[in-house]
Amino acid sequence: MPKTLIEPFRIKSIEPIRMTTREQREQLLAAAHLNVFKLRAEDVLLDWLTDSGTGAMSSKQWGAIMEGDESYAGARSFYRLEKVIQDITGMQHFVPTHQGRAAEKVLFTAVCKKGDLVPNNCHFDTTRANLEYLGIEAVDLVIAEGLQPALIYPFKGNIDLARAEAVLQKDGARIPFGMLTVTNNTGGGQPVSMENIRAYSKLLKQYGKPFIMDVCRFSENAMFIKMREPGYENTPIRDIVKEMFSYCDGATMSAKKDAMVNIGGFIVLRSDEWMDGVRNGLIMMEGFPTYGGLAGRDLEAMAVGLEEGMDEDYLRYRLRTAEYLGERLDAAGVGFVKPTGGHAVYIDAKTVLPDMPVAHYPAWALCNALYLEGGIRGVEIGSVMFGKRLQDGTETFHNMELVRLAFPRRMYTQSHFDYAAEVIAEVKEKAASIRGVKIVKQPEFLRHFTCECAWA
Ligand code: F0G
Repeated sequence: MPKTLIEPFRIKSIEPIRMTTREQREQLLAAAHLNVFKLRAEDVLLDWLTDSGTGAMSSKQWGAIMEGDESYAGARSFYRLEKVIQDITGMQHFVPTHQGRAAEKVLFTAVCKKGDLVPNNCHFDTTRANLEYLGIEAVDLVIAEGLQPALIYPFKGNIDLARAEAVLQKDGARIPFGMLTVTNNTGGGQPVSMENIRAYSKLLKQYGKPFIMDVCRFSENAMFIKMREPGYENTPIRDIVKEMFSYCDGATMSAKKDAMVNIGGFIVLRSDEWMDGVRNGLIMMEGFPTYGGLAGRDLEAMAVGLEEGMDEDYLRYRLRTAEYLGERLDAAGVGFVKPTGGHAVYIDAKTVLPDMPVAHYPAWALCNALYLEGGIRGVEIGSVMFGKRLQDGTETFHNMELVRLAFPRRMYTQSHFDYAAEVIAEVKEKAASIRGVKIVKQPEFLRHFTCECAWA
């Protein structure tokens, strides 16, 4: 059998991407104040800023869009999607939201109160922000293996059960529910094992706490279980997904990931206990419960996308894509978070720029270098994102300097990845000439999105 794992689709509609010269990119990046967030997307060749809402929809999804029922209340499209979601999750109650963070906000507002504490493997930044905004403590309890980039371990997204139990014992009265993020985006897109999901669920039950999963990338997580967890080799993805959902009491979802749509999200809950609060909040913040901030056509695209996202051929190719780029980086001597996760590769900038002082933001510098060298846009996950300038002008730095290259679904082919591998290898060869940056203008919060930089 041929070994090359091909894209399991053919291309029906294309979107041109524009080559630019290095001179042009130098001017464009300078005009963007050395911040790739400020570039126009049309000036980027491979846009790997995020896998969220950026993927290609299928012809079947585009066909479904024409069937959208745009009624305010009781639209047919809602009932179609509700049936798909009830079948996948086994949960009775479903409401749509316009994206994942809205699902978080509506749920947290309905069921948490100031002073509460929520344990998770790692909270994604919007999840953390939504909790902290309500005065709730967000505690990350990922296993120690999950914090070591170079260490190879099959389920680096697992939650540390001993630490979770300690938190339940000590702060049980403050805990409205336990959370788990699959896959663990903040920790490198790493999966959580079924064994860990099952044990965490049991632990929460023992302490009388509901279990909420952040399921943005549940299909990718299920495929990792199939490929890595003994006993699941021959289990269909759909059954793995159903088992994952069987252990939790509810979930929040950004459909912009594994539901293969450009916009959308939802909340599902098993019992109706919280539903009145959720529905009331939803009406205020998002919309009537049968559309929740989306158009009927968006609900149709999601119903089809959820099924397509669980296709095994697609998932095999999807996970292989990240792994393939990882192999090419290994060959070039570039370090990254291992093993590669589902939706992205996280390059360890310190392996490319070992001599650059952290005060010159090596991951940010590498991000800029990837754009200048080959028009590739990634995102810095380092000291610009997580560091802080203090009142006295000094800085705190992050413990890792990573560049995340996140892959939109079904959008780029193998030659795009070959090209990227060449660009990254060339950047590594020219590392001595890569310049760090200093921040010349920054807001108080979330500075990476809007800060202005100059060469250090
Ligand atoms: N939870 C996780 C694990 C996420 O990765 C995201 C989004 C959200 C919640 C929020 O969903 O964007 O639909 O509101 N992650 C994107 C990313 C933005 O680039 O990783 P949203």
